[in-house]
Amino acid sequence: MKPTAVALALVAVLGACKGSEAPRAPAPAPKPDPHSQSEPARIVVTHLALELTVDFAARTLAGTARLDLEKRDPSATAVVLDTEDLLIDSVVDCATKAKLGHVLAPERPVLGRALTIEIGASGCVEIAYRTAPAARALLWVEPSGTLGKQHPMLFTQSQAILARTWIPLQDSPGVRFTYDATIHVPKGQWALMSAENPQQLSPDGTYRFRMPQPIPSYLMALAVGDFAFRPIGTRTGVYAEPALVDAAAKEFVEVDQMMAAAEELYGPYRWGRYDMLVLPPSFPFGGMENPKLTFLTPTVIAGDRSLVDLIAHELAHSWSGNLVTNSTWNDFWLNEGFTTYVERRIMEKVRGPAYGEIQWTLAEKSLREVLARYKDTDPNTFLALRRSATDEPDDVPGSVAYEKGSLLLRALELAFGRDRLDAFLRRRFDRLAFRSSDTETFEADANAELFGKRAVGWTLAPWLHAGGIPPGLPPQRSAEVAQIEALAARVALPPRGWNTAEWTIYLDAIPKTATRDQLLALDQLFGLTHGNAEILMYWLPHLIRADIQAAAPVIESFLTTVGRYRMVRPVYAAMMAGDEAWKTLARSIYGKAKDLYHPIVREGIGKLVK
Ligand code: BES
Ligand code: ZN
Repeated sequence: MKPTAVALALVAVLGACKGSEAPRAPAPAPKPDPHSQSEPARIVVTHLALELTVDFAARTLAGTARLDLEKRDPSATAVVLDTEDLLIDSVVDCATKAKLGHVLAPERPVLGRALTIEIGASGCVEIAYRTAPAARALLWVEPSGTLGKQHPMLFTQSQAILARTWIPLQDSPGVRFTYDATIHVPKGQWALMSAENPQQLSPDGTYRFRMPQPIPSYLMALAVGDFAFRPIGTRTGVYAEPALVDAAAKEFVEVDQMMAAAEELYGPYRWGRYDMLVLPPSFPFGGMENPKLTFLTPTVIAGDRSLVDLIAHELAHSWSGNLVTNSTWNDFWLNEGFTTYVERRIMEKVRGPAYGEIQWTLAEKSLREVLARYKDTDPNTFLALRRSATDEPDDVPGSVAYEKGSLLLRALELAFGRDRLDAFLRRRFDRLAFRSSDTETFEADANAELFGKRAVGWTLAPWLHAGGIPPGLPPQRSAEVAQIEALAARVALPPRGWNTAEWTIYLDAIPKTATRDQLLALDQLFGLTHGNAEILMYWLPHLIRADIQAAAPVIESFLTTVGRYRMVRPVYAAMMAGDEAWKTLARSIYGKAKDLYHPIVREGIGKLVK
C-alpha cells in the first residue's frame, strides 16, 4: 500500500472512532430503521468481540458476543438488540461477570425477537448463545457440494437483515462498530471473515481476526472450509478451494487495474487489503461485498474474463455501501445504484468506452422492462422506498435500485459533465466516510451543489419519489448491442468466437416465439446446452418454452449444482409457466435441490413452485 493511502486510511479510521478529534462534525444519530427493533439513538454498540465454535455435526455456532456500548441518551439504562432464532444461554457484565436482567420479546414477523438487556457497571454486555441449525444467514455445505468432496463448508450471508440469525446485534445499517473475533473450527479447516485474514492454515483450528474499521452488521461474514490462497497484487489476492484457486487468480488478474481506476476516480481504498473468496455454486448471489473479503460465486469464472464486471461491482462497494452506507434499507439504491455506476466507470477505464456503452445500453433496456411490469404509482419503483416493518426489506424489484439508480447518476454525468459529477461524488465519499446517509441528504446535496448552479430541464424528485420512466433518462446507443439484437430478433446464427457476455445479450434478446427447430439448430452449432452457468440461465428457459423435453436431464443437473438465485429463478419460472409436465418436473427437481440452496433461495423458489 502506498504511504499516502496508509495515512489516509488511518485518519479515516481514527476519525470514525470515539474520542478522537475528527476534523468534521460528529455523525448524526441514525434515522429510525423500520427493520430493526434496536434503539441506537439511546444506546449504541461500538465494538463487538466475538468468540464462536463451529460445529458441523450439530450445524451450530456457539459462544459469546461481547458488546461495548455507548450511551447517547444519558437516561437510558437498557440496550435493545435484534435476534432471530438465537438460543440465549446467559447475559453477564463483561467485567464483573454479574448476571444482567434481560428479556427476549416474542417473535415478530420479519423482525425476529428483540433482546433487551439492563446494562451493568462496565457498559459492556456479554451474551452466551448458540445459533439454530436452520439459521437463515448460514449455509452448511456437505462435502458433496464442494469441489474437493472431502470437507464440509460453511458460509454466512448477512445482508439485508440476517446477521441477527447468527449474532445478537443492532442489526441496522445505521449502526457501525469495529470487531475482533476468535473462531474455532475443526483442525484442517480454514476460517475467513470480513476482517484481516490469515494466509495460512492454522495448525490448531483457532483463528483470530481484527476489523479496525467500523462496519454495519450486514457486512459481518464468516466462511469455513478447505481453501488455498493465491496473491494477485501486493494488496489483493484470492481464496478458493485448492482445485480452483489458480483458475480464479487468472480470471481476476485485472483487479489491481480496477482498484487503481477506482482510486483515481473516488479516492483511496481505505480498507487495507482487498481479497476475494470463491465459494461453491450454492452461493446465492453473484457476489457479496464483505469488507476486505468479497464473497463470490464460482460461476463468474467463465475462463475468458468476460464476467468480471462482478468483481468491479463488489470492489466499488468499498466506496459506495461499505464506506458510505445506506442508512436504512429504504435507501438501498444509495448502495446499489451508486455501486453500479462506479462499477461501470471502473470497467470503462479498464476496457474502454465501447464496453461502457454496452453496459449502459443494457441498463436502459432492463430498466424499461422492469418499469413496464409495474404501475407508475407503485412505491417499489421509487428510488426512495417506503417499506415498513412488516415488509421484507429486499422483496422489491432489484433492478430499480441498480439500474434506475445508476442511470440517475449517468443522467447527472451527462447533464452537468463528468468533472463536476466526479468532484461531487468524491466530496461525498470523503465527507460521509464510515457513516450512513439517506436519500434526503443526497437530494439536498445534489440540489445545492449541482441543480442549484445550472438548470438542466429536469429535477431529481421524479426519480426519487415517483415511478414511471423518469425525465432526463439518457438514451443509450451501443452499435454492438444493436447488431447482436438484430441477429437475435431473427434467431440468425451468430459468428464464431463470441464470449459469454456477447452470448447472454443474444440469448436474452431471442424472441419467446423462437421455434424448436431454430433452437436445435443453434444448439447443434454452438453446443449451448453444454455452456457455462451464465449461458444456461438464458438458454434453458428457451428450451422449456419450446417444450423440448429432452432438456430435462440438463435442467436437473444445472438446478442441483448451481444455487445462485438470479440463475435458477428464470429456469424454475419458465417451467412453472409451462404445462403440468413441466410444473411436475420443477417440483421434483426442487425437492432434490432444496437442501443445496441457501435459505434465502429456498424461500424464494419454494414460493414459486408451490
Ligand atoms: N450486495 C449485493 C448482494 C445483495 C443484495 C445481497 C441484496 C442481499 C440483498 C451485491 O453487491 C450485488 O449487488 N450482487 C449482484 C452483483 C451484480 C449486480 C454485478 C449479484 O449478486 O448478482
Ligand atoms: Zn451490489
